[in-house]
Amino acid sequence: MKKKKGGLIAELQKKHEEILNSFNKLQETFAIQTIEKLRAQEELRFLQEYSHHIIESAGDGIVTCDTEYRLTSFSPAAQRLLFYRSQEILGNLLHEFFEKPEEFIELNERIIKDGYARNFETTLIDKNKKAVPVMLSFSYLEGPRKNPIGLVGVIRDLREIKNLQSQLVQSGKLAAIGQLAAGVAHEINNPLTIALSNIQFILPRVNSRETRKVLNIILKELMRCTDVTQGLLSFSRETSKRTIEALNINECIESVFFVLKYKLKISKIKLIKRFAKKLPRVMGDANQLQQVFLNLVLNAIDAMPKGGHLYIRTSAENKKFVRATVADTGIGISAEDLLHVFEPFYTTKEPGRGVGLGLSISYGIIKDHAGEIQIKSQFAKNHKRGNTTFTIKLPVCVRGAARPNLKKRK
Ligand SMILES: Nc1ncnc2c1ncn2[C@@H]1O[C@H](COP(=O)(O)OP(=O)(O)OP(=O)(O)O)[C@@H](O)[C@H]1O
Ligand SMILES: [Mg+2]
Repeated sequence: MKKKKGGLIAELQKKHEEILNSFNKLQETFAIQTIEKLRAQEELRFLQEYSHHIIESAGDGIVTCDTEYRLTSFSPAAQRLLFYRSQEILGNLLHEFFEKPEEFIELNERIIKDGYARNFETTLIDKNKKAVPVMLSFSYLEGPRKNPIGLVGVIRDLREIKNLQSQLVQSGKLAAIGQLAAGVAHEINNPLTIALSNIQFILPRVNSRETRKVLNIILKELMRCTDVTQGLLSFSRETSKRTIEALNINECIESVFFVLKYKLKISKIKLIKRFAKKLPRVMGDANQLQQVFLNLVLNAIDAMPKGGHLYIRTSAENKKFVRATVADTGIGISAEDLLHVFEPFYTTKEPGRGVGLGLSISYGIIKDHAGEIQIKSQFAKNHKRGNTTFTIKLPVCVRGAARPNLKKRK
């Protein structure tokens, strides 16, 4: 009986140890699981922050929408591009941003067919109702069980690229027409010079007043033809030699007003000059740059037949550029004309009043000076005045820097 009791205690002790062991193991497993869970949570937080940083700092806009095409996120770059703040736009439908609804349908069809759409060019409308050319790449956004929960898209701003493309086309066009113009001008210039000198020779020898009057008309018209051929030649940069020097744009513009002072006065145009003092010099050909400002001011005068204001401003930009603006309160330029004004022979003026070369010549000259010429205009509508501003940027002359490309073109 004594032996039986001792065996029972031993058995109970064994069971107790077994339970204790299992409990310890359970505790250990629980501790490991807790550590793993914490680690997973930390990793998840890191991944969330990581993707948040990528989205926040991406140069392209990133947007997401649900399966109903309602916006669920709108990155800072997308906000900067379309001027909407995320709070005001979330929940809106994706297709509302498309200028042409049929392009949204096409994008959507591509996503449905291939599972994604890449490099899809279209135009979106920003908060100010302005068209923004963009390139879109969209694909499905997957949920935890790989089920599609919406779309994720990248929006790339194409404005700068489009701008560069059109400048490239413009320079190409100008170069081609320049060559053609030079050829034609050469051919016309010689017979024109002969005709002019012969008339000038005959004129003083003619007694009849009537005949002299007729010859004078011919002379005047031939002179106009010479102006055109000179315009063509200077357009193709085939004019006489150039002098490149470090010059002050203020002085360059001032000399133009010296010539046009009287014309501005009789045209009832008030000139408002804001010249920056101590303007850095630019490297260039004074004659050519004067020609540019002359063209711009003559255009401004033509645009204000009933008078108006002409603003000329100069300033330095980051010590790198000199900026000059010529602004008028004239008739302005329509959106359609704005696309063409730098093209040679594009004019809206009556025959005899404009050849359409002023701006294309100016464009060529500024490009040769490694500069930029830009235009902004508001077309006069409903009896309201328009306005036009030309901005010219020329690189500041730096000692030892490359000279502008002002060589004679062959
Ligand atoms: N300041 C301006 N305001 C309104 N329209 C302008 C202005 N400047 C240019 N334009 C428009 O641009 C067109 C082209 O200008 P551009 O100077 O090249 O040629 P043009 O003045 O017509 O002729 P040209 O200069 O050869 O005598 C003009 O016909 C006019 O329609
Ligand atoms: Mg002109």
